[in-house]
Amino acid sequence: MFTADRSCLVVVGAQWGDEGKGKLVDVLAESADLVVRYQGGANAGHTVVIGDEQFILQQIPSGILHPGVQCVVGNGVVLDPITFFEELERLHAKGVITEGRVLVSDRAHLVLPYHKLLDKAGEKSQKIGTTGRGIGPAYEDKYGRRGIRVGDLRNLESTAKMLGERIERANALLGMLGATERAGVDEHVALLTKLAPRLLPLAADAGLAVHRAVRDGKRVLLEGAQGALLDVDHGTYPFVTSSNTTAGGAAVGAGIGPTAIDAVLGVVKAYTTRVGNGPLPTEALDERGEALRKLGGEFGAVTGRARRCGWFDATVVRYSARVNGLSDLAVTKLDVLDTFDEIPVGTAYELDGAHCEEFPTGIEPLERAKPVYEVLPGWKTSTGAARKLTDLPSAARAYLDRLEELAGVPIRYVSVGTRRDQIISVE
Ligand code: IMP
Repeated sequence: MFTADRSCLVVVGAQWGDEGKGKLVDVLAESADLVVRYQGGANAGHTVVIGDEQFILQQIPSGILHPGVQCVVGNGVVLDPITFFEELERLHAKGVITEGRVLVSDRAHLVLPYHKLLDKAGEKSQKIGTTGRGIGPAYEDKYGRRGIRVGDLRNLESTAKMLGERIERANALLGMLGATERAGVDEHVALLTKLAPRLLPLAADAGLAVHRAVRDGKRVLLEGAQGALLDVDHGTYPFVTSSNTTAGGAAVGAGIGPTAIDAVLGVVKAYTTRVGNGPLPTEALDERGEALRKLGGEFGAVTGRARRCGWFDATVVRYSARVNGLSDLAVTKLDVLDTFDEIPVGTAYELDGAHCEEFPTGIEPLERAKPVYEVLPGWKTSTGAARKLTDLPSAARAYLDRLEELAGVPIRYVSVGTRRDQIISVE
């Protein structure tokens, strides 16, 4: 993907966020200088498998697993400082050297324990099926102009005063939401007082660092979290996350201008999954859906919840290609389909008696939309050892050709297993 005139790339999830971006970022990071996370927070779980070891990265960019790569947590991320340091410690325990390699934007907002209390209390009245990581309430505070940012830790006295006000408000809200738990100001002040000396040495104007890297022709990878259909503007609102997961969010959340970005790689599974509530038009509610879940190990990386499984939905991916401006596509988990006799692909919807190729706005029409399926023959052969397109059985190649045609975006990578080397790069 990186070439002389493509040095700043974005990688986004192009479905509901479980597509295996971690692996793609890991593969691309091998030739990157800088990897930047630009939105979301500890709701993400980017899985990377190296040998027998599995790493689940939540807030630290997946580039950390390549020794020479610098990692940046951008201003668009909502940072949970407790789990951030736990994650760093887990990486150290596995022998990953992180010292001097991680920079955190001083403009990134903090996710604090009171946000998690609000997230859980909110779920009781509005069942989104969140990860419970405090993401929504932290972004609410950000956009309500009452957030606490990493840079605020430089002045703990005024931050303690701010905390007092924020927690008073949070406790009033918790009362309104019928929660019995309350947040404590002293615990929060103690937490930040303890964390500040560890966090501040990593804090800087991250946008400036990313800008300089781009200006100097370094290879920069902007790593999205979640997927396009969870974008707060373009996703299946209100069953979305609270950030802009689409490529437009990459410039804002990394602190650079959109003209710095050269290409956008969208990651899709060869089928579709979703964790949490909300519409999933091509969901397979029969034994084949169960088979996809089993064969694909479809359980959320963060919450362990079973993922809902279904067929590839080309309407979703075409829409995602449009709102992200995808230049390239990566198809993951092709091997999960190896044993199926036939594989349905949703090519469009039938909506209120009409043929519909565009993704509708709103939950109601989506719930009425019936996928139009085309059934493709399976290949009934293991694909895990394929390293070139020509190693794949012809039915698998035909399947990929059809996905490419329906999505309208060229396929650049095909992943055929969890390991780093199980990838086909299409030149
Ligand atoms: P939140 O981001 O925790 O507020 O959750 C909102 C919705 O996004 C829920 O349906 C979650 O299951 C989903 N979600 C959040 N993060 C991820 C992710 O990284 N992958 C897949 N789904 C996610």
